[in-house]
Amino acid sequence: MKRALFITFEGGEGTGKSTQTALLAERLRQSGNRVVETREPGGSPDADAIRKLLVTGETGRWSVTAEILLNYAARESHLRQTIVPALENGAIVICDRFADSTRAYQGYAGNGDKHLIEQLDRKVVGDHQPDLTLVFDLDPRIGLERAVLRGGDDRFERKGLEFHNRLRDGYLAVADKFSARCSLIDASGSIDQIATSVWQAVAPHFEDTAG
Ligand SMILES: Nc1ncnc2c1ncn2[C@@H]1O[C@H](COP(=O)(O)OP(=O)(O)O)[C@@H](O)[C@H]1O
Ligand SMILES: [Mg+2]
Repeated sequence: MKRALFITFEGGEGTGKSTQTALLAERLRQSGNRVVETREPGGSPDADAIRKLLVTGETGRWSVTAEILLNYAARESHLRQTIVPALENGAIVICDRFADSTRAYQGYAGNGDKHLIEQLDRKVVGDHQPDLTLVFDLDPRIGLERAVLRGGDDRFERKGLEFHNRLRDGYLAVADKFSARCSLIDASGSIDQIATSVWQAVAPHFEDTAG
């Protein structure tokens, strides 16, 4: 019997989330699972339209409150149109960034209203909390360097090192606060080493679903 499983990948820029979501999806597919890969902001046509508003333009384009509202508006569409239907179909959903990114970027690094975030989270995400969240931890100097090598440039990558240090601390605080579902991953190793750490965190859930 296979049970739906909702796995999220979180962490700063260049920590290896997209690399590892693809590797995990491949590994789970090879063992016969149905896997839906998705990402935030975005993940449904309407949420992708909101993503464009969030990641392009001047770094100071939106107030932090506007960013929180846009993120949760996108997340509502993403859940309703993509995530919840996939879980109801028994798929494993692997999501590259989710609500903890709003907590870390807007709540911690951006000094936004954490209470507002939790209120919106209860309303929008509610019972659809991730079963497992992998929080990738890495010195932002290394992560930003990797992100530059990868190419691409968005509003958040352009914020300074101080912002990204606060972001890292924010993710550590989130991992601590939601320790029941969060697993901290040391993202400083090789791609293979990180894939092994990811599998160690995922396997117990996966055996649950198979058994
Ligand atoms: N463990 C690693 N060591 C070195 N480079 C890596 C590692 N993991 C990923 N990369 C490279 O770093 C860049 C950023 O990785 P990516 O997976 O896109 O990170 P994220 O999605 O977290 O921003 C990519 O060019 C990727 O190939
Ligand atoms: Mg990525």
